[in-house]
Amino acid sequence: MNADTPNILIIDDDLAICTSLKLLLKKEGYRSGAVQRPKDVEAAILKNKPDLILLDMNFTIETSGRMGLQLLQQIQVLAPGTPVILITAWATVQLAVEGMKKGARDFMAKPWNNKEMIQSVRTILELERPVAQQKNTVTEGDQQIIGQDPTLLQTIQTAQRISSTDASVLILGESGTGKEVLAEAIHYTSQRKQGPFVRVNLGGISTSLFDSELFGHQKGAFTGAIADREGRFTRANGGTIFLDEIGDLPLPSQVKLLRVLQEKTYEVLGNSSPRRVDCRVISATNKDLETMIQEATFREDLYYRINLIKLVLPPLRERPGDIPLLAAHFVQTFKQAYQKDDLYLSESARAWLRQQYFPGNIRELRNLVERTILVSASAQLEAHHFESNYNPNQANITNPLMNTEGLSLSEMERVMISRAMGAYAGNITKVAQALGITRSALYRRLQKHNIHYEH
Ligand SMILES: Nc1ncnc2c1ncn2[C@@H]1O[C@H](COP(=O)(O)OP(=O)(O)OP(=O)(O)O)[C@@H](O)[C@H]1O
Ligand SMILES: [Mg+2]
Repeated sequence: MNADTPNILIIDDDLAICTSLKLLLKKEGYRSGAVQRPKDVEAAILKNKPDLILLDMNFTIETSGRMGLQLLQQIQVLAPGTPVILITAWATVQLAVEGMKKGARDFMAKPWNNKEMIQSVRTILELERPVAQQKNTVTEGDQQIIGQDPTLLQTIQTAQRISSTDASVLILGESGTGKEVLAEAIHYTSQRKQGPFVRVNLGGISTSLFDSELFGHQKGAFTGAIADREGRFTRANGGTIFLDEIGDLPLPSQVKLLRVLQEKTYEVLGNSSPRRVDCRVISATNKDLETMIQEATFREDLYYRINLIKLVLPPLRERPGDIPLLAAHFVQTFKQAYQKDDLYLSESARAWLRQQYFPGNIRELRNLVERTILVSASAQLEAHHFESNYNPNQANITNPLMNTEGLSLSEMERVMISRAMGAYAGNITKVAQALGITRSALYRRLQKHNIHYEH
């Protein structure tokens, strides 16, 4: 061990815990120190200059946890920017959530699992390292992620840095921005790449089927269970589970999911022996989870459990420069698929595409390219070929008052809402924002006008 070896400070009033953590860290090649009394924390930080701090939230002298939060604040003053992992009892997870809001980087519930503890430490230290020092161990995945936009590149770079760890990842982005593509890329560049990648659409699973879908059941476990069924967690064993549309998961299922992710075990219905979860968790949603937390439709503790790493994919309108690149990429793809060898994307088409608005993002662009290739006889694809296949209705959302002449106020309202729903693919938060009304006002109007929508 030399001076470059990361140094970790353990703050816990239980000597046994300090000793076992120190042993664990030493075995993994880290330096560490420990303090048991809050009043020694300051001196230890100034002397050791830790790269990371493990902080117990449940000091026995003061069980409300205020001491832990106070220490967290003290650390942030004494060693600003030093990452802190909180250790907490399951019963006081709420405390950890509070700590996360105050800037802690992760939390572990007691009794923790050594492997997970080390994963979290390693991931966080890796993210702290200056870019120049990072090992570039990531090989190109099967999936190609096209784009040169700096925000996107930063997201991809972070994804590469953490792909080799087992850290849980939350991918945010509007519909069609490539969340699933990114999730797969992370899996196929991880150490679990030989294992399965299992996607679960949480928006499509009803509360009553949740357990059976995710954990599986044995024949006869309930009426209708006529055969054994393998759950998604079992299928994802040794690989990655991709919890897609997690923002659409109803609250009763959220608490069940939290429990599995927290305790890392689950039970197959009809068989009470617990099984260990051995899969990396990647979640994705186009919903605004932070707003949902405020509205009490998404559990805050679950949010903090799934987003050790948060990756945000920018919408296409924020990276118009990538549109021609993506379009050219799709032309190449379809050229092969449809055996049109001489297809060519003209400069005029590139320039025109760059200026269009694609509320459905990359998916919409891809569909437009495919449609245009299928219907145009010419090999040279020009702007006008695309123009005649482009659906301008969707783009009119920026000017919702267009073509509403002769409509009553109520009809106009209906038209505007339907258009906005189409343009934002039914994303209630976005539609409400675009129309300048609250979500509940929007729900009322959807009902009034009998507008149906799918998530
Ligand atoms: N960077 C990229 N380069 C090339 N193709 C991409 C890229 N990102 C996405 N795509 C393509 O765009 C389409 C949409 O991607 P994907 O399904 O991953 O989006 P999503 O964010 O999961 O959308 P949704 O929220 O609607 O589920 C797919 O056809 C995918 O292959
Ligand atoms: Mg998706």
